[in-house]
Amino acid sequence: MPRARTEFVCRECGYRNPRSLGRCPECDAWGSFDEIAQRLSPVATTRPATPPAARPLRLSEIESADFDRIPIGIDEVARVLGGGIVKGSLTLIGGDPGVGKSTLLTQVANTVAEQSQREVLYVSGEESVGQIGMRARRMCLNSPNLLFLSETDTDTIVETVRHSRAGVAIVDSIQSVMTQDVEALPGSVSQLRECALRFLQLAKTTGTPVFLVGHVTKDGAIAGPKVLEHMVDTVLYLEGERFNQYRLLRSTKNRFGPTHEVGVFEMRGQGLAEVSNPSAVFLAERARSAAGSVVTVAMEGTRPILQEIQALVSRSPLAMPRRSATGFDASRLHLLTAVLSRRTGIPLHDQDVYLNVAGGLRVEEPAADLAAALAIVSSLRDRPFPGEMVALGELGLSGELRGAGQLEQRLREAGKLGFRRCVLPEASARQLAAGPAPAVGPVEIIGVRDLPSAIEALLRPRGR
Ligand code: TYD
Ligand code: MG
Repeated sequence: MPRARTEFVCRECGYRNPRSLGRCPECDAWGSFDEIAQRLSPVATTRPATPPAARPLRLSEIESADFDRIPIGIDEVARVLGGGIVKGSLTLIGGDPGVGKSTLLTQVANTVAEQSQREVLYVSGEESVGQIGMRARRMCLNSPNLLFLSETDTDTIVETVRHSRAGVAIVDSIQSVMTQDVEALPGSVSQLRECALRFLQLAKTTGTPVFLVGHVTKDGAIAGPKVLEHMVDTVLYLEGERFNQYRLLRSTKNRFGPTHEVGVFEMRGQGLAEVSNPSAVFLAERARSAAGSVVTVAMEGTRPILQEIQALVSRSPLAMPRRSATGFDASRLHLLTAVLSRRTGIPLHDQDVYLNVAGGLRVEEPAADLAAALAIVSSLRDRPFPGEMVALGELGLSGELRGAGQLEQRLREAGKLGFRRCVLPEASARQLAAGPAPAVGPVEIIGVRDLPSAIEALLRPRGR
């Protein structure tokens, strides 16, 4: 009889080691090792000496049925998933506590129940049925096919789903459920792995799609080993700032659709409302003639979104002036200020620079560089940037500008929201001029060679 082996697994990254370590050599987390018992599978001992060979298939032999999808009824969620909910899929949805995961999934459960005429089972391991019911009532959800259960035992949940007629099952959250077969606390690596595996088997054998809610750690990973993300078909994140009403739903992994699509919602008194025209919303509170504000067009998946970048530059009392960025990469801001100082001779060494993306959004595209650099100069010189103009372009280390992709789409969106001019790199302007004219719409194109010429053309110092 072989002894059951034990192994230690890092809670943060899934690194395995035969002994417990104080610090994980893989991700440098301290005290993150959990002991797990390796179950020696009985199959291993009864296996014949030579296992039978399997038969691989030719492409022509494989049936090409498209994924069978259940309609969701919430466009912003469907956009991120790439359509309806795929039968037999396992989806993990992460986000900070209080961001609105339970709210969103209760709404999804309700609309799916309404649209598909099938039962949807919402299982909570964190809240009582009374609490969930109160929230659902407040959000005016009342589909008769929406069923609630408060339960923390994975095996009971799995059996309940198997014996129900549920079209979709939701488990809120994977950290709160456990199975008796594993001797560890709920939320520990071995519990998470085993429970997720059981929900995976449930989804694959019954065809019932399962959604798992997962909590997110400080540094943004879904708590528990990466294993969890590898096991599921789709990983969604719900993001948002605590004091801001907007929420973004993104997919970071999707076996049945695109990643990098984003769904936009607004948290209201009655749950999350879809925002189908985010540009208009994010620009609604813009002060048009304020210095230090420049609008750019960022692509979020296939959708262009107009975003206002604000800068504030003020004389610093510190030997090491401050550089602070909200919604913008901090190291990118350092780079922009360095390029500004060296290539345009604009002195920033004794100035604090604050950069902010209005509306609580995050800009990750380098195409926003030009707008950010112009916002900084606009604030420093106290010269407002033209209110009906957008800026697009990536900044190189020598002050040169590089173009952005999907220009036509971006310009069309800008035109739709009333912008009349766009400053962008010369090469892109030439490329646009060569293309068909109506693609750009009513927006006038201003091509600039590099950053210094953009500043000279648009933000000349007062009195010149
Ligand atoms: P919740 O969905 O419970 O967050 P999570 O499951 O991600 O932890 O959302 C909690 C927050 O949402 C809470 O702070 C209150 C707010 N909220 C609203 O503003 N309006 C609503 O209709 C609901 C249901 C919640
Ligand atoms: Mg919750």
